[in-house]
Amino acid sequence: MIYCVFGLGNIGLLTSFFLRKENLFAISRRASECRETRMRIYFLSSGEESFSLNICSLETSVRCDVAIFSSKAYEVKDYIMGFKGRFDEAYCLQNGYGVWEEVKPYSTLNKAFPAPVTYGVKTRNGEIVVTGEGVYYLGGFRGEEPVHLDSLAKALINGGARVQVVNDVEPYVWQKLLVNSVTNPLTAVLKVPNGYLLKNKYLWKIAEEVIREVTDVARREGITFPEDPVIFVKRVLEATSSNYSSMLQDVMRGRKTEIEYINGFIIRKASEHGVNVPFNLILYYLVKSLENIISEVA
Ligand SMILES: NC(=O)c1ccc[n+]([C@@H]2O[C@H](COP(=O)([O-])OP(=O)(O)OC[C@H]3O[C@@H](n4cnc5c(N)ncnc54)[C@H](OP(=O)(O)O)[C@@H]3O)[C@@H](O)[C@H]2O)c1
Repeated sequence: MIYCVFGLGNIGLLTSFFLRKENLFAISRRASECRETRMRIYFLSSGEESFSLNICSLETSVRCDVAIFSSKAYEVKDYIMGFKGRFDEAYCLQNGYGVWEEVKPYSTLNKAFPAPVTYGVKTRNGEIVVTGEGVYYLGGFRGEEPVHLDSLAKALINGGARVQVVNDVEPYVWQKLLVNSVTNPLTAVLKVPNGYLLKNKYLWKIAEEVIREVTDVARREGITFPEDPVIFVKRVLEATSSNYSSMLQDVMRGRKTEIEYINGFIIRKASEHGVNVPFNLILYYLVKSLENIISEVA
């Protein structure tokens, strides 16, 4: 089984580490050829490990059984164009909703699945730091069954990852989407760590309204959350209270955000169902304004 991981940022490097014992091509837009590269990873629980990765450029001629897309959602198009028909099926690790639909037509089996990841990871001075141990959720989606799921799950587990195989991965996609649609825009606009949303009663009121809107849209989509939405969001905020959300980090670095795939998606779905989601809409406009300000300054 040949695995290709596309995009070697935080989550791409973590996933490549877990697949390091497999026939793996770790593909980066920044690479100019295939080269063995030594890397280091730190787990808060189990300490440090070094490992080798076969890092290749987009021009590599490999054909993969399983493609794993681990870039930002809006960057996935940079990889799929050149790899059309060169992978059986794909797993998309991005936050938000919908990337797999863009990837699907490029796979030979016309199969691409979301695979939400709850690990927290960052890279510091070229080293990978796992800040929160989590899970890779793997499963079918809307009645469609993956072909290589068992192999991928075994490979990730063999490399040390925690994996939960589920019949239907969609409720887990929505659960992550719910947390991101509350946490990301509010922390990005106010430039506060996640825990502030719980500590500040006015912010929590806004958070509750966003949760209510997302839960309503999810219900209309036929989704039942694996856990009570409010309790789940509170638990994640407590567990990540000192963290800066990925959207806040993107804004601070002057980068584009994934707002279109998070609150933008909720707004589009709400509109299809004829419901208003004013809190999501305001947060969406605020983050889009921030992106405009950033691009004007740059
Ligand atoms: N970080 C997390 O803890 C986490 C957890 C769950 C889900 N996610 C989701 O996973 C996706 C990827 O997030 P991420 O945190 O891994 O993003 P990231 O670290 O910003 O990486 C995004 C892309 O930027 C490129 N890149 C990385 N380092 C770079 C550098 N120093 N200079 C220039 N380009 C660089 C990489 O592509 P190339 O290698 O092709 O250049 C990479 O695929 C997002 O959808 C995010 O929401 C992240």
